[in-house]
Amino acid sequence: MNRNDLCWCGSGRKYKRCHLAYDERIDSMKFDIFKSQVRPPKNIIKNEADIEGIRKSGVINDAALDLAGSMVAAGVDTASIDDAVRKFIEDHDAIPACLNYEGFPKSICISINEVVCHGIPSKKTILKEGDIVNIDITTILDGYYADASRMFMVGKVSPEAERLVKVAKECMLLGIEAVKPWGYVGDIGAAVNAHAKANGYSVVTALGGHGVGKDFHEEPYIAHVGERNTGMLIVPGMVFTVEPMINAGKYSVTVDKKDNWTVRTKDKSLSAQWEKTILVTETGVEVLSS
Ligand code: MF3
Ligand code: CO
Ligand code: CO
Repeated sequence: MNRNDLCWCGSGRKYKRCHLAYDERIDSMKFDIFKSQVRPPKNIIKNEADIEGIRKSGVINDAALDLAGSMVAAGVDTASIDDAVRKFIEDHDAIPACLNYEGFPKSICISINEVVCHGIPSKKTILKEGDIVNIDITTILDGYYADASRMFMVGKVSPEAERLVKVAKECMLLGIEAVKPWGYVGDIGAAVNAHAKANGYSVVTALGGHGVGKDFHEEPYIAHVGERNTGMLIVPGMVFTVEPMINAGKYSVTVDKKDNWTVRTKDKSLSAQWEKTILVTETGVEVLSS
């Protein structure tokens, strides 16, 4: 690519005024194969138009999470929350990404107590006092995805459950704090796992975070257990989720044999998860959905 060509990122600017310095910096770096260090592929680097698209999708996604959270109460069935969120997203000319995604039958995931993730909303699943509930929503607006989840507590919950929900949130926030431009993806899992372990909890390794953009799940894969300075280089313009699943007991999980979706802790211990979609900037991160 020549200095005066249009930049590969699609910004419409000349290369020399856009990603030339960025490419030179990466080209000058040594990637240590023994630490699985790799350079990020160009096709996952977002330009301003992409970022604005994901940002707008995130605004609707966050409002959908607000709505879902406002409905959480003892006696409410989870299908009615799914219905209301689907209607809300569609009323905003957007699409609930989970609906029919690889055959998923509902618009959002609702995962209660020992359910780790991918819980399917149902008329038969009634929230009850003491439940801890993850609601995970992904919106597509004008082709751009935004993905986030939050925990909710139904009425008064046990002190153990409350502590798990709190520590799981801290794990996510510490994971995001570990995201630095020109750092490595392994820094995230190192921070998450250290905090979970220090609190006597375990981190699920079977599923992780992911890049987000014009697809639901893009590179990089974000492991929530990791080692500092390993994995993919983190650079400005990357957008991905941090979404650690924290178990009160052991890290092993099972997938429901009948519905092929519901992920549970193998030992039936409680599990909690929080998720945000973040953008890596020149100086740190910007949260795009929360
Ligand atoms: N939102 C989930 C994630 O954080 C994915 C759910 S896929 C579904 O990646 F099919 F279960 F909805
Ligand atoms: Co996600
Ligand atoms: Co999600």
